[in-house]
Amino acid sequence: MQIKSAEFVMSNSDVAKCPKNRLPEYAFIGRSNVGKSSLINMLTQRKSLAKTSGRPGKTQLINHFLINKNWFLVDLPGYGYAKVSKSSKKTFQKFITQYFSLREQLISAFVLVDIRHEPQTIDLEFMLWLGEHGIPFSIVFTKADKLKPNAIIKHVEDYKNRLLETWEDLPNYFVTSSSNETGKDEVLGYIEDLNVHMKIDL
Ligand code: GTP
Ligand code: MG
Repeated sequence: MQIKSAEFVMSNSDVAKCPKNRLPEYAFIGRSNVGKSSLINMLTQRKSLAKTSGRPGKTQLINHFLINKNWFLVDLPGYGYAKVSKSSKKTFQKFITQYFSLREQLISAFVLVDIRHEPQTIDLEFMLWLGEHGIPFSIVFTKADKLKPNAIIKHVEDYKNRLLETWEDLPNYFVTSSSNETGKDEVLGYIEDLNVHMKIDL
């Protein structure tokens, strides 16, 4: 899919204030610093559309980006960031769970995990929560440029085996790097197929 336009629309912390039109949307979620905002920039080929930082906790709100004038990419804050206070963690968790529970336009979530790490409880629990709520998701392994090809295969296999301890079917997954654009066509092609399925005119 060709990205002809990518525009920032709005940021907010209240799902009720998100765009009201019924365009399909795809949301990126995962631990702080995993590379959600960088992935949006890589997919859209816009260097600083979404704000990124080497320090975790950069994205604090629900950010809507309108792509090709007819679907949204959504950048969300990360979970599992140790430095925020307990009360702001609670507020944050509330608006994220509300976003996923209430946003009917959401076609699929992408749960990002750093390909270098062992499966983390917080990610596995979040995927289970999505499953229990009937919210479709794919896994996006990020920062693949940091591993050699053999290590990528091993880490993905280990992750799949861990998921098979709880899941009957494995979710779709993508291996990506925002640094060298690995996985760009695969993720965009997947979204394009879903949009076509939704009869969205591209
Ligand atoms: P929060 O908004 O804080 O939750 O983080 P985020 O998940 O949006 O991460 P962000 O995109 O801001 O990236 C975090 C750091 O990881 C930045 O320093 C990025 O440059 C780096 N990074 C992101 N993706 C990649 C990647 O594919 N490869 C490499 N090498 N670094 C990456
Ligand atoms: Mg971010």
